[in-house]
Amino acid sequence: MPDYRRRAARDAMSVRLDVNGMMAAATGRAGLGRDDIDALAPRAAEITRSLKARRAAGDLPFYDLPHHKPSVTAARALAADVRRESDTLVVLGIGGSALGAQTIVSALEASRQVVVADNVDPYRFGALLDSIDLDRTTFNVISKSGDTPETLAQFLIARDLLLRHCGAVDYARRVVITTDADAGALRQVVHDEGFRSLAVPAGVASRFSVLSAAGLFPAAVAGRRIEDLLAGAAWMDTRCQSPTLWENPAHLLAALLYLADTRKQQRIVVMMPYSDRLSGLSAWFAQLWAESLAKAETVDGSPAHVGQTPVRAVGATDQHSLLQLFAEGPDDKVVIMVRVEDHGRELPIPAAYADLDAFAYLGGVGLGQLLNLEQRATELALARQDRPVLSLTVPQINEFTLGQLFFLFEAAAVFAGALYRVNPFNQPGVQYTKALAFGQMGRRGCEAQRDEVAAWLGRKDPRYVL
Ligand code: PA5
Repeated sequence: MPDYRRRAARDAMSVRLDVNGMMAAATGRAGLGRDDIDALAPRAAEITRSLKARRAAGDLPFYDLPHHKPSVTAARALAADVRRESDTLVVLGIGGSALGAQTIVSALEASRQVVVADNVDPYRFGALLDSIDLDRTTFNVISKSGDTPETLAQFLIARDLLLRHCGAVDYARRVVITTDADAGALRQVVHDEGFRSLAVPAGVASRFSVLSAAGLFPAAVAGRRIEDLLAGAAWMDTRCQSPTLWENPAHLLAALLYLADTRKQQRIVVMMPYSDRLSGLSAWFAQLWAESLAKAETVDGSPAHVGQTPVRAVGATDQHSLLQLFAEGPDDKVVIMVRVEDHGRELPIPAAYADLDAFAYLGGVGLGQLLNLEQRATELALARQDRPVLSLTVPQINEFTLGQLFFLFEAAAVFAGALYRVNPFNQPGVQYTKALAFGQMGRRGCEAQRDEVAAWLGRKDPRYVL
C-alpha cells in the first residue's frame, strides 16, 4: 500500500493543472494574457488573506475536513459493523448529499455493493428496492439539513419496508443516518429511535461535505481507504496555501474561469474527464460550481445574477456528440479536460486486417492509450479553433487523487465566490423551490407557497397549452 506521507509518493500522485490552453499564446483572442491574470493578483492575494483569516476563526469548516481524524475513526468503525451485517449499502440522499458518495463509488472499485438512490423516480427507486436482499442491506440516509423532501420520502419508504420485514425492534439496526450533529428532523429521529448515526460538522454545506461522513462512510463500506481520501485532500490543501496566484492551483483555476466568464464572455464551463470512472466527478462538479456561484445578489445585497453554466461531458464518448459544438459552435465555453495517465487496467487491441488502413493502425495499441491519445488530439483541436482548455492530469484514479480533486474544486469554488462577491455556501434559489414543493404537499407553515402555486396555475392561458 502506498504511504502518502512520503513526499515521493505524494509527488508521483499529484494532480497537475496545465493552463497553457487558457492563454492567448495558445488560443489567440479567446485566451487570456499573462497581464490579465497579473492584474488580478493583488485582489487574489487579498482574498487569500481574508479566507485564511476566516478559516482560522472557524468560519469555513469545510477547509478543515481533510485534517479531521475523528471522522475517519467514526466512519471506519461503523463501516466495519455494516460490512459484517450487510452486502449492500443503499445511500438515500440527493444533491450534495448523494453526489460525493456517487463520485467515489463510481470511480473506485468496491468490495461491497454501494448504491446511491439520488432521486425519487418511483420506477427506478421501486426497482432498486425490489432488487435488494433486505436481510443483507443497510440504508444510509444522508441529509445535512434533515428536511429535504426527496430524502425523507425515500427514508419513509425504506423504513416502512424494514419495519414490515424485520419488526419494530430490529429494523433500526438496518439504518445509519448522516446529518447535522445537533439540528434537524433527522437528528430528532436519531434521538427518538436510536438509529446509528454520523455527523456532518456544523457549517459544512452539503455540496462541501464529501470529505465528511457523507462521503467517508459509504466509501469505507465500499472497502476504500478513506484516510487516503483525506490525505489527498490535505496534500492539495498544502498546495493551495500560497498567496501567489501562479503557485496556487485552486486559486489559479478559479481566477481563469472567472476571467474567462467576465472578460471573454465564456459563460459555460464543460467538465470532460476522459474516463467513465470520473463521470460522477462531472456531476459533482456541476452541482458545486452551479449552486455555489450562481446568485441573484452579491454578499452586500447588490444585484448579481452571475455564475458560469457547467456542462457535463465525458471523453471520448462526447467527441462524437458534443465536441462539434465545443469546437465550432459559439465561442462561449471553457473545457476542463481530465486526463488519467494510468487507467489501472489496459486492454490491448489485437492486430488484424493488416491490409485495411482503418484497422491496421489499431493493432497493438491499448484502449487506455487510445483514450489518452484522443484526449491529446481533442485538446490540440480545440486550441487550433481558439477554444480555451484547462487540463488536469491525474496519474491514477485512487483515493489520494480523488481527495485532491475534491479539495481543488471546493477551494476553487470558494475563491471564485469571493471574486464574484457572492456567498458560495447558500442556495436561495433551491430553498425557494423546496418551499413551493412543501406548499403543494401540505406541509404546515407553507400555506402561502401552496396558494402561490395554485394562483400561478390559474393564470396559465389555455391558448398556449397544446
Ligand atoms: O448542496 C446543497 O446545498 C443542496 O443542493 C443540497 O445538497 C440538497 O438540497 C440536499 O440537501 P440536504 O443535504 O440538506 O438534504
